[in-house]
Amino acid sequence: MANMNLGSRDVATTIHPYTNLKRHESDGPLVITEGDGVFVRGEDGKLYLEGLAGLWNASLGFSERRLAEAAYRQMLKLPSYHTFSHKAADIGIELADKLLSLAPAPMSKVFFVNSGSEANDTVVKLVWYYNNAIGRPNKKKILSRAKAYHGVTVASASLTGFPNNHRDFDLPIPNILHVECPHFYRFGQAGESEEAFAGRMAASLEQRILSEGPETVAAFIAEPVMGAGGVILPPSTYFEKVQDVLHKYDILFIADEIICGFGRTGNMWGCEAYRLKPDMITCAKALSAGYMPIGAVMVSEPIYEALVRQSEKIGVFSHGFTCSGHPVTSAVALETLKIYEQDDILSHVRRVSPRLQAGLRQFADHPLVGEVRGIGLIGAVELVADKPTKTPFPSVEGVGAFLTQRGHHHGVILRPMGDSIAFCPPLIISESEIDLMLERFSLSLEDTLAMVRERGLIEYASVPVLAK
Ligand SMILES: Cc1ncc(COP(=O)(O)O)c(C=O)c1O
Repeated sequence: MANMNLGSRDVATTIHPYTNLKRHESDGPLVITEGDGVFVRGEDGKLYLEGLAGLWNASLGFSERRLAEAAYRQMLKLPSYHTFSHKAADIGIELADKLLSLAPAPMSKVFFVNSGSEANDTVVKLVWYYNNAIGRPNKKKILSRAKAYHGVTVASASLTGFPNNHRDFDLPIPNILHVECPHFYRFGQAGESEEAFAGRMAASLEQRILSEGPETVAAFIAEPVMGAGGVILPPSTYFEKVQDVLHKYDILFIADEIICGFGRTGNMWGCEAYRLKPDMITCAKALSAGYMPIGAVMVSEPIYEALVRQSEKIGVFSHGFTCSGHPVTSAVALETLKIYEQDDILSHVRRVSPRLQAGLRQFADHPLVGEVRGIGLIGAVELVADKPTKTPFPSVEGVGAFLTQRGHHHGVILRPMGDSIAFCPPLIISESEIDLMLERFSLSLEDTLAMVRERGLIEYASVPVLAK
């Protein structure tokens, strides 16, 4: 096999996540071999601007030496250890301490994991354990939302609100329920204000809680900004109203900060952008700038106390991963948090993000663009077949995927979430790199307009031909 090219070897050897496996056999992969700042290099030498920071995670770009050196130093000192049965690695303690000091709401303890999915799976188990501990064995249902993304392990895929994450995987598991996706552009009614829509969403959440029986509903989980669902921002007053409902029925609030955490919105946490007061927080991705697989769950003091009581009763808290609190991932995460502070990444994001947000909004008048949305250094452009009626393209046409393929041609990597094109560049991106990303997106958008016209997917009459 060594004499085959890399792409063929990949097809021969690897199952790819979130990939049409049949198509991959004929199309093969885009093989990336190097990183440099906000760019990555393909095996053919071509440089691509990484408009999604990999998978929303490479917050410091692809060539931060301090992280490589932190990993190397730790590898030489203590390359592996664990946190089971009263053991700890010194560096993991430092990281837990730092994370708690940054938390957007009072948090008591940290539990380390290796991914966002593991963080959300852990949260589900903790909610159940907690309610058993405090004598509420029937309060077990967890509410998530349509189009939420919380991961792919058994419980977290159940929380995820996409049919394809459930279909033929025999999910969701019992006790996981989904309520509406609060996307005002898509689901707001004619004449309804954003606040009235938020009120309707909260009222419908309350109705669902009442019909399930509040004594059976344990928790509600939400991303402050829904990422993989298409970068959906909460409508104005949504979270205030939702949190009121949760308080009323003594329902825990879990904030999934796996994309929003560590500066993405121009705040350290999405919770700060939208004034969320969660009982538990999950984070991963930018915790290590995507350089190492690490995630964390933070829990409030009442939850921690209940865990202590229950583990005392049972004799042990039987949950944890071999690499929970791994010294090398911890060292890289700690160094990442230091860089955020020392380089004042938050101020940088606040300085450059208006360039991205204003730049994206320039596409609002484009014939293919239904909605432009975003905050900080995250955004999306939603493509539609008909602007006035917001009619989407038939999904079989793969219009969003076509645009991102053209993006590769023009040297930018973006991600289609259906026909919403997501932008989430490394936080270190400069204004001129933002301009370049948008320029390359613009070329890809024009190619897409030409394609949909050619395939007759939009009405010529309703779409002015853009002046050259
Ligand atoms: C909001 C959110 N939660 C959870 C996850 C799952 O994280 P992982 O892929 O590390 O398991 C993701 C991944 O994209 C995410 O965006």
